[in-house]
Amino acid sequence: MEKIIINTPGFRSEILVGERWEALSGLLPEKGVVIITDDNVNQLYGSRFPKLPVLSLSPGEGSKKLEVIEYLAEQLLKAGIDRSGFILAIGGGVVCDIAGFLAAVYMRGIRCGYISSTLLSQVDASTGGKNGVNLGGTKNILGTIRQPEFVICDPEMLQTLPEQEYLSGLAELIKTAVIGDKELFEHIESSFDEIMARKSDLLTLLVAKSVRFKGLVVTEDEKEKGLRRILNFGHTFGHAVELQKAVKHGFAVASGIELATEFSFEKRYISLEEKERIISLLDRFNLIDRLDISNDQMAKLVRHDKKKTGTDIHFVFTQGIGKAISEKVPVDDVLGFYKRFRDKK
Ligand code: GLY
Repeated sequence: MEKIIINTPGFRSEILVGERWEALSGLLPEKGVVIITDDNVNQLYGSRFPKLPVLSLSPGEGSKKLEVIEYLAEQLLKAGIDRSGFILAIGGGVVCDIAGFLAAVYMRGIRCGYISSTLLSQVDASTGGKNGVNLGGTKNILGTIRQPEFVICDPEMLQTLPEQEYLSGLAELIKTAVIGDKELFEHIESSFDEIMARKSDLLTLLVAKSVRFKGLVVTEDEKEKGLRRILNFGHTFGHAVELQKAVKHGFAVASGIELATEFSFEKRYISLEEKERIISLLDRFNLIDRLDISNDQMAKLVRHDKKKTGTDIHFVFTQGIGKAISEKVPVDDVLGFYKRFRDKK
């Protein structure tokens, strides 16, 4: 087991990678704990949950809305949860986003911790404190940044993930490797069979590397004023693809990584060889979807992105495997690139 600490002003968050999910002793208060999960996780693991009240949500992105926060807050009030209460989220990115947001706003903030059950949430979504819900067609537009007290990342939970959910998480793992850890990238390149076989020791190692990198970034820039923006690599186009095509987050991000890599190559930030290495790694895991979003549709979607300020957007480029930079570029330049990319196809 590896313990990674994310230290932010006045807060310490412990990420326990390789820990068994049931190992909760000492992490929870004696009273006032409520579990938030979803129906899939509840069905698989509910019989082994600690004997605590459980609020179970419909699985999927559709639950990330304010009505659900309101409903859950009412249930907490009914259960007599006060300011000393504690929310234990057991699930993937959606559950952690909802539970973290609820914990941040319920009675102006109560304690929370996560058991992170998907690869996507272990390598990215559940660490770093971002939480929130969607509003209409815009993702994560209402939310806060507030660290959970702990996150348990148990590789055994990844064994029960449906194939597509597992692969979706690999895209975020590859993202981290491209922006910050060349060794991680090479490790993924050389471990295709073991990754597909979900070897627990290897997954612990890869998740720990990813969390370690993210932890350094978040420790330096929790509120995303600068460095943290690089974690959005692939997400400008990725969010657009996700909204338009309703594919799983990681697959949308993989398409976004392909586009951001091509854009980086066009700007001569990376060599042809590096570009091909990144795209062929995504391809090997079958992550890149066929892009059939028109230029006009893409323009509408990108203009809604919350990384946009006025007519510019913070766009993340790779500067070689293991290095990234966020630059403020005109939205028109991003859309111009997209048009050129589509014309070439
Ligand atoms: N998922 C990007 C971040 O946590 O900043």
